[in-house]
Amino acid sequence: MSKVLVYEKSFLTTGVILLILCLGALVYATLAMGIHLPGRAGILDPARLNSTPPFDQPGVRQTGPNAYEVVVRAYAFGYEPSEIRVPAGAEITFVGSSRDVIHGFNIEGTRINMMLIPGQVSKNVYTFKEPGEHLLICHEYCGVGHHFMHGKVIAE
Ligand code: CUA
Repeated sequence: MSKVLVYEKSFLTTGVILLILCLGALVYATLAMGIHLPGRAGILDPARLNSTPPFDQPGVRQTGPNAYEVVVRAYAFGYEPSEIRVPAGAEITFVGSSRDVIHGFNIEGTRINMMLIPGQVSKNVYTFKEPGEHLLICHEYCGVGHHFMHGKVIAE
């Protein structure tokens, strides 16, 4: 076999192996680690966000023996509530929406990373294994105050 053919064969083999590895990583992340894109959990009128349940009562509420729901309203430039306290080890469902423009909802050190879109409800579930304080930041550019838009999530 000529040298060129040997190179070509090894390039093709490497390509196939990389494809299989990437596909495997995707399947592992989806099935074993539970990472997926947050789906659209509902629609609402953004002008009436503050009076539409559950957003009329932002905050943390218990929904089961070890399950909590956190309802968050985003606005330029902050979150309501801006400080969220949840128990570590419990299943936390974050439900959020925005009343003005698109904001981000990214909890540092976790896989919680959502967009809060006016008129849409974003939902994501997470369990804090350890107690600790996490920064909540807006990572979608939303205007002049974007870089001041932050909050705090405390697992205790
Ligand atoms: Cu809100 Cu950037």
